[in-house]
Amino acid sequence: MIQIAVMGYGTVGSGVVEVLKTNRESIAKRVGQEVNIKYVLDLREFPGDPVEQVLVHDFETIVNDPEVKVVVEVMGGVEPAYTFTKRCLLAGKSVCTSNKALVAAHGAELLQIAKDKNLNYLFEASVGGGIPIIRPLQTCLTADEIVEISGILNGTTNYILTNMTYHGANFDDALKDAQEKGYAERNPEADVEGHDACRKIAILTSLVSGQRVDFEDIYTEGITKVTAEDIRYADKLGRVIKLLAMSKKEADGKYYAMVAPFLIDAANPLYSVNGVFNAIFVEGNMLGDSMFYGSGAGKLPTASAVAADVVDAAKNLGENLGFYWSGEKLELGDTRDDKR
Ligand code: HSE
Repeated sequence: MIQIAVMGYGTVGSGVVEVLKTNRESIAKRVGQEVNIKYVLDLREFPGDPVEQVLVHDFETIVNDPEVKVVVEVMGGVEPAYTFTKRCLLAGKSVCTSNKALVAAHGAELLQIAKDKNLNYLFEASVGGGIPIIRPLQTCLTADEIVEISGILNGTTNYILTNMTYHGANFDDALKDAQEKGYAERNPEADVEGHDACRKIAILTSLVSGQRVDFEDIYTEGITKVTAEDIRYADKLGRVIKLLAMSKKEADGKYYAMVAPFLIDAANPLYSVNGVFNAIFVEGNMLGDSMFYGSGAGKLPTASAVAADVVDAAKNLGENLGFYWSGEKLELGDTRDDKR
């Protein structure tokens, strides 16, 4: 039996517990042994919840327990998640996360520690929720030069724009609805200002370039300036408004990345990607085009991706799977350069 700990019992954390319990038997078969949740870390109490039996409030309990081999970090935000993750890795535990803010800010360092210690720092759920995208880029598409990644990387804003486009909803009500359904980040600004999509495209660009991308370098515009009038004008043009994140490698060898609302026409496959769904278009220099589509946010889809990482980490104890980018900064091209 392999012992794991889950740090954070919010939407995604409770989803991870549910996935590991519901699919206990099939997961045990894939890992080759049972996966047992020894601890759940959260500052809150959960009276009556079965998780009460394993609830702890002190991180030291987890990091100092040599039996715990894999830790799930689904706390969100950079601190204390960064300190806890680093300490877990240094203590010889693999870490699986959905925390895009942390991966975008400190991924290079955490991946290096994992590599040096023959552990894994896995982050499939950090981009596209339940959609497989990190693994395909790192494994199936690894022989390709990836020349473009673009698409809808934020479920909350796509949900809001869809409701504004097809149901005449106003921005505030649509946001509230998305928050109630558990799609939005704790701070809705991260979604609606495009910061969440920005971190996700930074992670994907780091992965395909093999170098650290500073998300602050990516031109980012959210959807807060999109009005009902804009939506109506777009409709008159036969278009919809979508928040896109994109990263392209141009002929000058530089990567250009940005996040902004775009007018999308009906011939574009992204036109009919609605609600909380995400779609990620990838162009490889050998593969040509491919597209990844599915539930980009939400409790169980995101938890499914985290739990898959747990399976991989548990199956590969003592072996680093090679998910990595260096700490050397990638200089992005200037997307506002009008010479282009
Ligand atoms: N708030 C994010 C979104 C959650 O709406 O896409 C998934 O990363």
